[in-house]
Amino acid sequence: MAALKDGSSGGDPAIPKEKDRRTVFVETWGCQMNELDSRRFVGLMAREGYLEALAPDDADLVLLNTCSVRDRAEQKVYDYLGRIAARKRLRPGLLVGVCGCVAQQEGEEILRRSPAVDFVLGTGRIELLPSIVQRVVTEGDRPIEVGFDMDEVAYTPGAVARTVAHRASITIVEGCNKNCTFCVVPTTRGRERNRRLAGIVDECRRLADEGVVEIELLGQTVNAYTDPATGEGLPALLRAISAIGGLRRLRFVTSHPKNFDDDLIAAMAESEVVCPALHLPFQSGSDRILGRMKRQYTRAEYLDLVGRLRVAIPGITLSTDIIVGFPGETEEDFSATVSMLDEARFSSIFCFTYSPRPRTAAARWEQDVPVRVAQQRLARLDDHQQELQLRMNESLVGEVLEVLVEGSDKTGQRVSGRSRFNQLVHVDGIPGTPPGTFVMAVVEKGLANSVLARPLRVGHPAEPGGPDVAS
Ligand code: SAH
Ligand code: F3S
Repeated sequence: MAALKDGSSGGDPAIPKEKDRRTVFVETWGCQMNELDSRRFVGLMAREGYLEALAPDDADLVLLNTCSVRDRAEQKVYDYLGRIAARKRLRPGLLVGVCGCVAQQEGEEILRRSPAVDFVLGTGRIELLPSIVQRVVTEGDRPIEVGFDMDEVAYTPGAVARTVAHRASITIVEGCNKNCTFCVVPTTRGRERNRRLAGIVDECRRLADEGVVEIELLGQTVNAYTDPATGEGLPALLRAISAIGGLRRLRFVTSHPKNFDDDLIAAMAESEVVCPALHLPFQSGSDRILGRMKRQYTRAEYLDLVGRLRVAIPGITLSTDIIVGFPGETEEDFSATVSMLDEARFSSIFCFTYSPRPRTAAARWEQDVPVRVAQQRLARLDDHQQELQLRMNESLVGEVLEVLVEGSDKTGQRVSGRSRFNQLVHVDGIPGTPPGTFVMAVVEKGLANSVLARPLRVGHPAEPGGPDVAS
């Protein structure tokens, strides 16, 4: 990469002068995995001497880390490229790369549609970013890299530019082997590729040594994780990570109901580190629609799993994903989805209107639910859930929660963070408490999407029981 790091006369040639430092800006859409991939982009380019810019105007390299899971996300990318093209005319040296799922899906089409784009980098080729940038600079062509390496996950653990010191996400399995008929992810992220368990545990240990107290393990079907050499699964991994000293919270997302077995429930239940909160998409409450979606479970099986989780892990909170307006969804099917909310009692939901995606089975079917009907169903579902959430959060009044502080509001008076159960908690009376601090707080009021609490004490992360500031 020496070609990019020029300009320094004298001193260590590998360290450019401040004014010569190149800068990278990443715009991110989509899921947590994309968020993490963006931090990998910044980390990989930092090794080449790049600084991170906080706005595209300050950048020499702009990366669009895209999402194609639903229609609008894709459209946003093309809108954004239109604005970048205007900027590029004013700043000819600016490089623009399209990465992520739209890159994987559209490939060449992006270069054709948008002359401002210098290269396209797919989700399986992240580690190639520095070399591809160099290629653009030195050879001036417009490369497309969108393949997948099936045998191993290319990953440089150290090259993740983390934004907070106390929390980290790590991908343990890339891709997805399921074939849900609505979903584009198997195309955009490829087949499952698993990392080695020992490598993941080493990385977690290193993060804990650096002061990370909460780790989130990522995968499209995270509970399908299997060590490629030993065959060990997610339960073994949770047990191994739970044994690392200093780590206080461990989460994993997203789980598929079909892959959730009793050993995984046991591993969650027995660990003091694994948080009692789970994201478990059910998508539809109707068996007919679940069948058409090829989700591989029934409503009864999903609810049975919820029952077993609630027995084994007292107080566990559940969140979920739901699609309304899937082809063939009748009013009766939709009612079955609404009643799932009452039966499973989710603490939060993410619901979407169905959007036909390229190269998916359902996109070829008759799109018989009008958009207007789908949007009404979405609103009805959301209204119903808001009522349930308000009641659930009101029932928390008087309970003591451990809050990991993430930040404060504009006035600096109120700090906010998450409980172990993943509730969003706002705490008054401890202004300026820094992110990463654990606070014990008692809930005073429940709102629809959060709870308000007053602090009991503030403890140091390393001393779970020991208060060092009384309030
Ligand atoms: N296993 C994945 C799921 C990826 S997509 C994960 O890690 O979250 C996230 C959610 O988007 C899905 O659970 C589904 O509810 C929604 N979704 C996926 N494809 C969709 C489509 N074509 N239309 C509407 N919503 C969709
Ligand atoms: Fe998509 Fe289904 Fe996999 S929702 S990510 S194909 S489990």
